[in-house]
Amino acid sequence: MLHLNDNANPRLADATLDQERPLTRANEAMHPSTMSEAAFTSRRLRNAAYYSDDSTLVLHMDVRNALELLAEAGVKANCIVTSPPFYGQRDYEVERQIGLEGHPSEFISTLADVFDASKAVLADNGSLWVNIGDTYWSGKGEHRSGEAKQSARRFGIRPQDKKGDGKWCVPKQLLLIPHRLAIEMQDREWLVRNDNVWVKPNPTPDQVRDRCSMSHEYVFHFVKERWYYFDKNAVGRTSDTGSVLPPLDTWEIQTVRGQTGRHKARFSEELVRIPILSTTPPRGVVLDPFAGSGTSLVFARKHGFRVIGIDAKKEYCDLMVEQLRKISEYVDQE
Ligand SMILES: C[S@@+](CC[C@H](N)C(=O)[O-])C[C@H]1O[C@@H](n2cnc3c(N)ncnc32)[C@H](O)[C@@H]1O
Repeated sequence: MLHLNDNANPRLADATLDQERPLTRANEAMHPSTMSEAAFTSRRLRNAAYYSDDSTLVLHMDVRNALELLAEAGVKANCIVTSPPFYGQRDYEVERQIGLEGHPSEFISTLADVFDASKAVLADNGSLWVNIGDTYWSGKGEHRSGEAKQSARRFGIRPQDKKGDGKWCVPKQLLLIPHRLAIEMQDREWLVRNDNVWVKPNPTPDQVRDRCSMSHEYVFHFVKERWYYFDKNAVGRTSDTGSVLPPLDTWEIQTVRGQTGRHKARFSEELVRIPILSTTPPRGVVLDPFAGSGTSLVFARKHGFRVIGIDAKKEYCDLMVEQLRKISEYVDQE
C-alpha cells in the first residue's frame, strides 16, 4: 500500500478509502481519469474544429498543427489509434503530406516526430496503436500500369521507383519500414508492447514470380510508461476452465475491398476492435491523427467513447463528418 502525502492527487486519496483496491501504480493505471466534458467541448476547440458535437471533434488540418492545438487546449486522449500513410503508396494531394519522402529514413523520422508530438495529448496511462505495412524498393523508373486501381496511386514517379542510394534502397529490397519505425520509437523512449500481425485471408494478389505474396501488416502497441490501462476482459478469450486469456497477437481480418467508397485506403472496423476496447475506459477519448474516412472513430462512437479525428484532406473530413454525425444523431435519440 502506498502512503500519500498532503500534495497527493485527490483521486489517489479517494482510492485509499477503497479497501478492496490496494494503492499500487498498476491499480492506479487501471482506474484512469478521462478528460472533462467541459474541456472537450471548450470554445477554443469548437472554434478550431471542422465539425464538433458533444462527443466528436474533427480537425481539417496538417497533423502537426492539429496536435499542437490539441496539446495547447489541454486534450488528453486515452487511446490513439491510427493508420498513417504507408511509404510510397499514395498521393493524397494535400500540402505537407506524409508518405512520399525521398528516402525511407526521412519518412520514418517524420512519422516518429508526429508520434512524439502526440505524447503531449496522450494520457500517461494511455496507449498508441499504429497500423503500418511495408514497401519494396523497386528502382524501376516510372510506373506504367494504366489499371483503374493503379491510377489512384499514380503520381509520376514514386520514391521507391527512383534509382536509390544503395543504403536500403536497392531493387527488390523489402524496406522493413514497420520495424524500423518501432526501433526509432524505442530510441525515443516509447515502450513497444506488441507487434501484432494483421493476417489478411484475402490479400490483393502480388504480380511477382520470385517471392511469396505479401498478406500481412502490423499493428504496433506503444505505451509511454510501464503502468497503463488495459482491460483484458473486454477483448480476451475464454479458456476451457472459464478464465480470461489475453487476445492473440495475430489477427485474421478480411481487407475492405470493392466497398471502399470515396477513401482508397480505408481499413476494417474489426482492426481497431482490440485497440479501442482494451485501452479506452468508459467515456474515454479516442484520437485518430490520420483519420481518413473515420473508420476507427465510427467504431469508437458506436461504443460510447468520445472521438477526435484529424485529416488534411477536406474530402475525407466530409466523409468522416457524414458518418459521425449519423452516429451522434442515433446515440442522442436513445
Ligand atoms: C492510410 S489513410 C487513413 C485511412 C483511415 N484509417 C480510414 O480507414 O479511412 C492516411 C490518411 O492520412 C492523411 N494525411 C496524409 N498526410 C497528412 C498530414 N500531413 N496531416 C494530416 N493528414 C494527413 C491522408 O489524407 C489520409 O486520409
